[in-house]
Amino acid sequence: MTAFRFDDWDLPTRSARPASQPPADTPVAAPAPLTPPAAGHAGAATRASDKRIVNGQGDIHQLAPFKYPWAWSYFLMANNNHWTPLEISMAQDVHDYHHRLTPTERHIFENVLAYLTTSDILAMRNIGLAVMEKMTAPELQIYQARQVYEEALHTWTYQHCIESIGLDQQDIYNRYRVVPQIHGKIALAQRRLDSVMHADFDLKDRDNLHTFALSYFFFAVVFEGCWFYNGFTPIFALQRRGLMKGTAEQLQYIMRDEVLHAGFGIRVVRELLAEEQLELDPQALRQLWDEAEAAEQAYAGYILQEPVLGYNADLHMQQFRFIANRRARQAGVAEPFPGAGNVLPWLDEQANLRKEKNFFETRVTEYQSGAALTWD
Ligand SMILES: [Fe+2]
Ligand SMILES: [Fe+2]
Repeated sequence: MTAFRFDDWDLPTRSARPASQPPADTPVAAPAPLTPPAAGHAGAATRASDKRIVNGQGDIHQLAPFKYPWAWSYFLMANNNHWTPLEISMAQDVHDYHHRLTPTERHIFENVLAYLTTSDILAMRNIGLAVMEKMTAPELQIYQARQVYEEALHTWTYQHCIESIGLDQQDIYNRYRVVPQIHGKIALAQRRLDSVMHADFDLKDRDNLHTFALSYFFFAVVFEGCWFYNGFTPIFALQRRGLMKGTAEQLQYIMRDEVLHAGFGIRVVRELLAEEQLELDPQALRQLWDEAEAAEQAYAGYILQEPVLGYNADLHMQQFRFIANRRARQAGVAEPFPGAGNVLPWLDEQANLRKEKNFFETRVTEYQSGAALTWD
C-alpha cells in the first residue's frame, strides 16, 4: 500500500487498490445459476456490479468481490493509527495548565476541548445511526464501524485530558449548552445531520437523496474536513511554544483519524453523486458554506477573544477558508472562498506526525496480544 499523505490528497480518485485484489467489477468464479434468483439468495453469485453506495442489490454480508476497494484500504490504513490516550504522558500539562498558561490561554484551551467533546459524540452518532445503515456495500460499512469506534476513542481522549488536568467536568461539558458561540456550531451540525437520522428515510426519493448527499457532504467536508482539521490549531499554537504538549500530541493522533474520515467521506460523496447522476444544488452549497463560515466566525471570536502569541481569530478564519477550498476541490465542487491563503503552513505538518518519533520510548502501556489476554 502506498503511504498516505495526511495533508495533501487533492486527488481522492487516485487508485488505492492493493495489487493483490481483483479489479473492481470482477465477478467471482462461480457457475451461473440456471434461473437467476434475487441477489443474495442461495445459488446466486454476488457481483461487484450489484453493489451501490446506497440502494444497492448486492449481498450486504459478503465482503468481496469489492466494488470499492479503496474503502477496504481506508480500513487497513485506519488500523495503522492505533493508540490509546493512556500512552501519552499528561504530567507536564497539569503543571502547564496551573502554572504557565495565562487566563487567556486557559480560556482557549478549555473552550476548544468543550467544543470537541460534544462534536465527537455527534460524529459517532451520525456515522453509526444515520449514515452506516444507509450504505449498501459491506466494505463501506466496515470502515464506518471502525470510524464509530474511533469517534468513541476521541471522546475518551478528551475525557482523559479533562480528568488528568483536573478540569471541572460539569462546567466543561455544559459549555456547548450555555455558550452561544459554541452552541451555534453544534446546533448547525445537528440541523444538517438530524435531517437524515431516521431509518425510514427513503433514498429512492430523489429529493431525499439530495438531502442525504448534502448532509453527508456537510459532515465529511465541513464538520470533519474543516472544523476538526482546523479546530485543533489553537492548541497546536500553544504546543509550538512548548505548552500543553501532552494534549497536543493526543490531538495529533485524533487529527490523523479525522483526515482519513474526511478523505473517506468525500470519496463516498463523489461516488454517490456519480452513481446516482446527482448534482449538488449550487445555491444549497453556497448557503451551506455561508452558514459554516458564520458559525466559525462567531466561534473564533469567542475562543480567541484575545490573541495569543502567534495566533488570533483572524488567522483562524483565514485558515478555515483555505482548508475549505482544499476540501471543496477534493469533493469536486467550486472553491467557496477563492484566494484564501495558507497562513498557517505548519498546520499540515501536524497531520503528518511521524508516529515513530519518540513514540516507543514514551509509551507507558503495552497492548495485550491474543496470547497474553487473561479472562479473569
Ligand atoms: Fe473524531
Ligand atoms: Fe471523525
